[in-house]
Amino acid sequence: MTHLIRQMGYVVIATPDPEGSARDLADMTGVRITHRAADAAFVSSNARYCDVAYLRDARRGIRAVGLEAMDDDAVDEVYRRAKSEGLTILDDKPLLPKVRRAVRFATPFGPIFEVHTPIEREPIDPAKFNAARVRRLEHVNLRASDPKGFHDLVTRLLGMKLSDRTTGYERAWYRCADGYHHTFACGPGDGLHHYAFDAHALYDLAGVADALAAKGRSLLWGIGRHGPGNNLFSYYLDPNGCVVEVSFGLERIDNDALHEPGNFEFNSSSNVLDRWGSQPPVAYGKALTPFVP
Ligand SMILES: [Fe+2]
Repeated sequence: MTHLIRQMGYVVIATPDPEGSARDLADMTGVRITHRAADAAFVSSNARYCDVAYLRDARRGIRAVGLEAMDDDAVDEVYRRAKSEGLTILDDKPLLPKVRRAVRFATPFGPIFEVHTPIEREPIDPAKFNAARVRRLEHVNLRASDPKGFHDLVTRLLGMKLSDRTTGYERAWYRCADGYHHTFACGPGDGLHHYAFDAHALYDLAGVADALAAKGRSLLWGIGRHGPGNNLFSYYLDPNGCVVEVSFGLERIDNDALHEPGNFEFNSSSNVLDRWGSQPPVAYGKALTPFVP
């Protein structure tokens, strides 16, 4: 199937404190705040106008996970498919400025997506912005009420390709056109588990841990190495209670047509989540942020 999604888009988070949320992400990861207003703050780790948008709301939650479409025609195609699937179209306009076109829809399994044309880029002068520990929003990790049903939907509707999965779809990892092992992953449950940034270097994961310690906080889990994706990982909780992953070295699928998805056993001795053998703490599994349309 032809790819409709080119790369990760943005994450839109509802929070009572957009400024504080953006400032905290900047302090921990070095992202720049590209826009701030009374009711919103946007951050970016690169030339894009926004990787994460915080919109003021009495609720805390995820308004949408953005996926950058190949082009305008791909947005139209996703809209047409979402309608024919009988999905609830929440809007046919983008949630954010600097985006030309979008369609936002709810899946019957919980996650809400916004498929959008590329967000604007602006030239970056390294003399003014070179402190970022991270360089791009890499992926999100979702929970769905029926992971196999979700699998069928996202491969059919969005043209996502399965990179790896566990036997019972306890976890599954999906890629788009850019060849990274996953743009999103999914497991059973409700909400968004984490959003992840790609670090410039392994040592940047130490920088994040140091920044947390400077504020009397600490990593939630890590450093370790994931099974599927092979990336080194660390996790912490943001001020909204959402998990942030800082990752390094995510696998690239070098030939999209030849890749055969792995099928892994998912149990406490399988080391699927950490090849080095650690298991996530209980608090890690419980930290789910709800979708709020
Ligand atoms: Fe992840």
